[in-house]
Order: sequence, then C-alpha cells, then structure tokens
Amino acid sequence: RPYVIGLDLGGTNAVFGIVDRDANIVAQTSVKTQDYSTAESFVDACVKALQPLIEQVGGIERIYGMGAGAPNANYHTGCIEKAPNLVWAKDRKVPLAGMFSERLGIKVNITNDANAAALGEMEYGCAKGMKDFIVITLGTGVGSGIVANGQLVCGHDGLAGELGHVIMVRENGRPCGCGRKGCLEAYCSATGVARTAREMLEKDSRPSLLRDLKPEEIDSYRVFKAAEAGDELAKEIFDFTGNMLGEACADFTVFSSPEAYIFFGGLCKSGDMLMDPIKKSYEENVMPIYKGKAKFLFSTLDGAGAAVLGAAALGWTV
Ligand code: BGC
Ligand code: NA
Ligand code: ZN
Repeated sequence: RPYVIGLDLGGTNAVFGIVDRDANIVAQTSVKTQDYSTAESFVDACVKALQPLIEQVGGIERIYGMGAGAPNANYHTGCIEKAPNLVWAKDRKVPLAGMFSERLGIKVNITNDANAAALGEMEYGCAKGMKDFIVITLGTGVGSGIVANGQLVCGHDGLAGELGHVIMVRENGRPCGCGRKGCLEAYCSATGVARTAREMLEKDSRPSLLRDLKPEEIDSYRVFKAAEAGDELAKEIFDFTGNMLGEACADFTVFSSPEAYIFFGGLCKSGDMLMDPIKKSYEENVMPIYKGKAKFLFSTLDGAGAAVLGAAALGWTV
C-alpha cells in the first residue's frame, strides 16, 4: 500500500492530496467546505471527489490510510468539536474520522489543522531535526501546533495547543469566535488584521490608500499592498499586529522554550512587514534568560503543502 490520503480541512476549502512515501502529492482535489449544511453531505461530496483520484493510483487497496487536519479536531476521539469556522460543526461534535473510515474502508486519523502543519514542518519542512518548536498559523483563525521534546503536545483530552485563544486584551477585548473576548485570534488572524484596519480608519483622520476601499473590501492582503506602497496607516496596522504576535510569543516561550517559531498561512504573504515587528517586540518582551535564542521563520512548505503533507504523515500512523 504505497499511498496515503491527506486532508487539510479549512473553513473555506477542504484540500485532499494522495501522497506517496517520499511526500510527493501525486494527485489533488478540493471541496468547498461551506457548500454543505450537514457533515453527512460534506463527507458524501468528499468521497465522490476522491473516487477518481483513488482509481488513478490503482484503487483503495493501494491506500494505507488517511490523515486529516481540521480546526477544533481531537486526535483522541476522532471528532471535530464545536468549530466556529465550520458551518456543519458549529454546535456539534462530528465524528469525522469514523465517517470517512466507514465510507472509504480504510483507517483514518484526525488532528487539529495547526498540529498537522507542525507534523508537516517536522517531517518535511524547516523544523526538520528540531525537537522543540511552535507552528503558528495565521489564516481565518490563529492556530498552533506545539512540539516539545520531539513530540506534539496533545494534552489529556487531545485539545492542547490553542494558542490563538490566549487572551491578549483584557479590557474591552474584541469578541472572538470561541465565545470569549480579547483572544490573539481576534487581532492577529487575517480577519483580525482587517478588523484593525477598519477600526483605525474610523478613529484616525490621516489620508490613506485604504480609504478608497469599501469597509467590506478591506482584507489583510490589501492592507499589506498599501503598506508596501508606503501607506503610513497600513504600516501601523502591521506594526500593531506584529507587536502583539511578538508579545504573545514572548509569553509562549516560558512554557516550552522553543528553538523556533514557524509562521504559516495567508498572512505570511506580508513577509518582513509582519516579521520585523514580531522579532523586535519578541526580544523586547521575552524574559532575559531567553533573549536572542529563538528563531523566527516562515513555513517553507507553501500554501496547503505543509498541512496536506502533515495530515498525510498522520495517515501513515493509523
Ligand atoms: C481554532 C483552532 C484552529 C485555528 C486555525 C481556531 O479558531 O480554534 O482549532 O487551529 O482556528 O484554523
Ligand atoms: Na493546535
Ligand atoms: Zn478565542
């Protein structure tokens, strides 16, 4: 059985890859996550989309197992639990691993999407050879995969590593999808950056390229483009975001003293615009014993790569 199926399940797209033992994605397909109102109809659509890919590699007998990364997913139970960014799993517990396993007739493991990205980085990416590192995903949400002593930290209930929901703002914090207020995710996700932009445009009267956009057109990439073009307000939005991320990482360091922080996801397109303030504020805020020790890196496995490959790596452990 020379192949596994890897699934990177996000709020927008569910990306499937058929992956061989050398981590080549030999076939790929995707399904729109939001187009389905129930987990059953979503899984149906996925199985249908997968069929031709499975045939292409010689049938299900050639597939060893499947691994999946998803928000709010629990490795121990195989379930997605109350995921605010997934329409069909908002207020429920969905036994996704079992559902796929039953439909495909292979074993399936599932873990948190950021945990899958961390596994991908460890096997194939810039964390190769590292035993202690933290992957932080900056997309619709903020996720994290914590590797300590060479192992993914799962916690007693399988839900450890939700650093996006560490509270950074105690007073008048922004509401977060998790139901609390002031979480890192509410500020430093791609959507958080757009929220910061809308807030700043409202309370600041300076001219800005962003004023040419309707509020709903503002997204993190447009803010980056404006900053790149020299827009002062847009640059301040990135300073604000990077500062908060650096402060947060300075606090995370006391838990597990990672060798590196590896950033992953849509917001990373902003490159040094984001990285420079992160590093600066990290060094300003971290405890003296840790100063100058941590590396700050961007994922070298582009786009869905690390997540699909990480999920695939999990597929070899079923
Ligand atoms: C969820 C995490 C997930 C992250 C990125 C957060 O809102 O709580 O489980 O890893 O988004 O998708
Ligand atoms: Na995690
Ligand atoms: Zn939260």
